[in-house]
Amino acid sequence: MERKELLYEGKAKQVFRTDDPGIYWIRYKDDATAFDGKKRGSIEAKGRYNNQISAILFRFLETKGIETHMVELLGDREMLVRALDIIPVEVIVRNVVAGSLAKRLGLEEGTTLDRPVLEFCYKSDELGDPMINEYHIAAMDWASEAEMASIKKQALQINGLLVAYFRDRDMTLVDFKLEFGRLEGRVILGDEISPDTCRFWDAKTGEKLDKDRFRRDLGKIEEAYREVYRRLKESGEQQ
Ligand code: TMP
Ligand code: ASP
Repeated sequence: MERKELLYEGKAKQVFRTDDPGIYWIRYKDDATAFDGKKRGSIEAKGRYNNQISAILFRFLETKGIETHMVELLGDREMLVRALDIIPVEVIVRNVVAGSLAKRLGLEEGTTLDRPVLEFCYKSDELGDPMINEYHIAAMDWASEAEMASIKKQALQINGLLVAYFRDRDMTLVDFKLEFGRLEGRVILGDEISPDTCRFWDAKTGEKLDKDRFRRDLGKIEEAYREVYRRLKESGEQQ
């Protein structure tokens, strides 16, 4: 497989064309942003950790019957993925109150939710990914009703699988963000699953092991990413 020209550069990843129109080459960067790009920085080796962590989690989900866009891990910070027609809806799944939910509803961070909460945001950097609901999605035709049914079902399934997976590795999966895309009439999981897009807390100490260390200037940022990678890697591919 040959890497061709840069197709798109996001805040954390670059997407390259390949000699196969159905396959993209993704490169994870060390650049970090928060608050719609207002806070900028770089986290040493982040691209490498996010690529490896995403690959481990995508492979795990595939073994459980969830289709993902990943084709092959290429090395440190690169992977091949299937080219999806990305649905412009970010899906947030929450198990524990944190971040914007705590703020919006005046709830205490750390409160366990009785059942998972799904939220949707319109994927637009320009607008700061505003929260939307299924009426917006239908009215704007961002996804069909059948696609939304598949997205909700998969998001909750993925949550169930990952909650148990992280619990086995002494971490609480607080919340995370997913993106889906279309391929041959199906809706498939895309983007990444990493400390950039999830909140992981150490199950015993509650220590934050994710991008909140960068957002909130908590220090030991690279160490947190490395620790998540270590816990996933050390437990190997066992499920
Ligand atoms: P929030 O509490 O800031 O709304 O974030 C919820 C989850 O979504 C959290 O795990 C981080 C993730 N997330 C992203 O992946 N990208 C984003 O742009 C934002 C704001 C959150
Ligand atoms: N990635 C988003 C940004 O750059 C927000 C975040 O992850 O906090 O603004």
